[in-house]
Amino acid sequence: MHETVKAEEAWIIDDTRAQISKFEKKRENLISILQLIQHRHGYLPPESMKHVAQHLGMAVSEIFGVATFYNQFRFHPPGRNPINVCLGTACHVRGGEVILENFERKLEIKAGQTTPDREFSIDRVACVGCCALAPVAVVGETVQGKMAPSKVEGILLGFQIEKEKERKRHESESN
Ligand code: FES
Repeated sequence: MHETVKAEEAWIIDDTRAQISKFEKKRENLISILQLIQHRHGYLPPESMKHVAQHLGMAVSEIFGVATFYNQFRFHPPGRNPINVCLGTACHVRGGEVILENFERKLEIKAGQTTPDREFSIDRVACVGCCALAPVAVVGETVQGKMAPSKVEGILLGFQIEKEKERKRHESESN
């Protein structure tokens, strides 16, 4: 296993133990614990769920059963560039689903998932407050309005170009 991944997992487990020790061992604390873990890590790491299950005397499958019932929880780490596709009413009516499908196809992941290199994650979100620009996707920090399938490719290409520039900058700095 890659050293960085191992270190991250170890930190997640230590942090989870420390956080859950603040809660009484009662099942009614489950949602509060899950919210806290997601707040700290951006998702519900599977390794954390085992410790939550032990603490509350529940099965891991039961914890996931509860967590999947609420759509506020993520089961994959957020990407460095999160893509939030709005499916509020105005965006839905103007083709938000098609925009979502295009991001999913180009990145080969589904909504709620993260690319293996953790560069991108895709999520569906409710109205982000820019209905006049529908359909809307928030890519990283940027609101992309009047989205069209052709814009999806352009946005992703922009990230690739930036990444390539960054790589070359690093290369020239280390030479
Ligand atoms: S419904 Fe998408 S911004 Fe309002």
